[in-house]
Amino acid sequence: MLGVSRTAVWKNIKKLKEEGYPIEAVTNKGYRLLSVEEADILDREQIAAKLTTQWAGRPLLYKDETGSTNDDIFALAAEGYPHGTLVIASRQSAGKGRRGRTWISPKDGNVYMSILLKPDLPPDVTPMLTVVMALSVYQASLDIAGAQAAGPDSQPVGADARCHFGIKWPNDIVVSVDGVSYRKLCGILTEMRMEDREISAITIGIGLNVNQTDFAPEIAENATSYSLALGKTVNRAALTAYTWNHFEENYALFSQTQDFSGLHDAYEAGLINKGRPVHVLDPRTPFTGRAIGVNMLGELLVLPDDGTEVRAISSGEVSVRGVNGYV
Ligand code: BTN
Repeated sequence: MLGVSRTAVWKNIKKLKEEGYPIEAVTNKGYRLLSVEEADILDREQIAAKLTTQWAGRPLLYKDETGSTNDDIFALAAEGYPHGTLVIASRQSAGKGRRGRTWISPKDGNVYMSILLKPDLPPDVTPMLTVVMALSVYQASLDIAGAQAAGPDSQPVGADARCHFGIKWPNDIVVSVDGVSYRKLCGILTEMRMEDREISAITIGIGLNVNQTDFAPEIAENATSYSLALGKTVNRAALTAYTWNHFEENYALFSQTQDFSGLHDAYEAGLINKGRPVHVLDPRTPFTGRAIGVNMLGELLVLPDDGTEVRAISSGEVSVRGVNGYV
């Protein structure tokens, strides 16, 4: 029917299988496509089918492999690609983490992606974009864990109730299973380019540990994946699309006020640092205290142990660790 050789069909089927399409082969009969809904297929079509946005992820460029999706975005920005352009990859050979670290990016069922923003915003409000993004990934995590039945922004129900998702300020998405310590599922890196003191391009890059099962020794203690937490393969296309669906809504609320007032309550609902002791790793004046929430700039509010007044910690300046471990 197709007018091609059996070998040509076999080659294409092999490629589709590698992309994650569940295809059954029966000798002397042929191939059959099983349920795509339950499979983990990360490609342009599967993501686009679940995307309900006006601009986020439009256009959407998918790559099996790249250096760093953040770098790709800056190259595309220079070529004139629009606000909302999204690059998604299954593997990165030069993934970048915060504070000049490497983001280990194996082809192991994960998602690496970056969006291009060309916002009309003053540079000093841009650190908040990272926090807006963290909220969006958190909300998508609840969607994927099947929390919708219990209403928006609620934790998973049923079998998945063993998992508790949260945001570790400012932008790590974490999960705890059966009350055991929180581990990191996602990292976010925002980078900005300026021209004549104006923002020419911003990229927010997200690395999601989705179906990865083994971690490099240096991160094994604090890292986990959605599939390890939920005990099932997670559909990467759905998690990806839900993230951008939430981001577009959250970005609209943020842009209206250029502060965190429209998102504050939703973010604090997921903030696991709240009420916990924290170390503020300020290189000049490190201190310990108790996190009490975030302010309208997305800064962490910490009540110092020495009895001095509440301090607002800005994400660009310092990092925060739990007193008894990572969170
Ligand atoms: C962190 O250190 O927590 C942030 C990690 C951010 C990793 C993502 S993966 C997609 C994008 N491309 C990169 O090179 N880095 C970000």
